[in-house]
Amino acid sequence: MNQTIPSSFAGLEHLATAVLLLDQERNVVYANPGAEVVFALSAKQISGLNISQVFPDCEILHSALENAITNHSPFREHEFVITTLRQNSLAVTCTVTPVELPPACLVLEFQQMDQQLRIAREERMLIQQQANAELLRNLAHEIRNPLGGLRGAAQLLEHELPQVSLREYTQVIIKEADRLQSLMDRLLVPHRVPKYEPTNIHEVLERVRSLLLAESPQGMIVRRDYDTSLPDLIGDREKLIQAVLNIARNAVQAMQSQSGDMHAPSEIILRTRAERQVTLAKKRYRVAIKLQIIDNGPGIPPDIRDRIFYPLVSGRDGGSGLGLTLAQTFITQHHGMIECDSRPGHTCFTILLPIESTAMKCLIPRQ
Ligand SMILES: Nc1ncnc2c1ncn2[C@@H]1O[C@H](COP(=O)(O)OP(=O)(O)OP(=O)(O)O)[C@@H](O)[C@H]1O
Ligand SMILES: [Mg+2]
Repeated sequence: MNQTIPSSFAGLEHLATAVLLLDQERNVVYANPGAEVVFALSAKQISGLNISQVFPDCEILHSALENAITNHSPFREHEFVITTLRQNSLAVTCTVTPVELPPACLVLEFQQMDQQLRIAREERMLIQQQANAELLRNLAHEIRNPLGGLRGAAQLLEHELPQVSLREYTQVIIKEADRLQSLMDRLLVPHRVPKYEPTNIHEVLERVRSLLLAESPQGMIVRRDYDTSLPDLIGDREKLIQAVLNIARNAVQAMQSQSGDMHAPSEIILRTRAERQVTLAKKRYRVAIKLQIIDNGPGIPPDIRDRIFYPLVSGRDGGSGLGLTLAQTFITQHHGMIECDSRPGHTCFTILLPIESTAMKCLIPRQ
């Protein structure tokens, strides 16, 4: 089937939403790349088919078509489920617009609901994250300043003390002040100017892998599952290493904490894939790198599962609860995002990092 379309429709190629053009008989004359992604069908498979074959048993869609045709105006049907000929069910909103651009006479535009929900959730997360970061920065500054004075005064006091045995108390003050100081230093991520340069994601992962293997107990498997055809991204190598390492170290620590024998061997998988037509922080990218860090450990404790990216949230003894907050900050600086899915025996952190040739040259880091 011919995929050539009138030149006025050429822009459809670049839309993230799925677009189908139908002729008078309601046969598909064109499917854009967005439709191929959303419906998991190639344009070749859909083209020439009647719309009732592409979406069998979808009364709502057919009445939307009738409505648009009868009223000669666009008609939108909100939030309904369609099943494709591949038996994939999708929640979508569909807009049907009559046009006079032979051979096309109807434009069908589909927006996937779960994608919209994800974008909305991501926007909320970003706002929350920025508010948290600012609050913490201010708080850390306020705590850090008097700490120096407190420590200095304790040292002076120590010199003046009449009995050496009393130094035990000043030492407690000094040590605790130092502990707080290092926590504040971690909270106030040093503002090193990011160094953005072409970075190979697999070099980042190989570095993480060798660090993990060096510091992990014997018997830990770190498996690679790479798509080596992925292009470089423009990024700060050190920050990317730190982000992935923080995530992977948590996996190692969680797996170490569960008692031995009855479990399968501890395994971490580092996986890379290409993800197409991705919307991140309201911006659409043709391609993003999807990086997954998967472990078969005990899973994230359910009581903190929704809050793990918040600062100071920790589920382990001695944890400061900053590893994931920092990882998220670094990934956000690359205009990417992190998600997590966890149940006992399977925890998967997914990082999306956009690749975009023109915008990358002037990548402005997010704070
Ligand atoms: N792969 C994982 N499996 C099980 N639990 C996890 C995993 N990743 C994170 N967690 C839980 O999330 C919590 C928060 O992790 P985060 O890295 O932010 O802080 P932390 O490890 O406690 O301290 P820090 O990294 O600052 O030393 C961890 O304490 C742990 O309970
Ligand atoms: Mg950690």
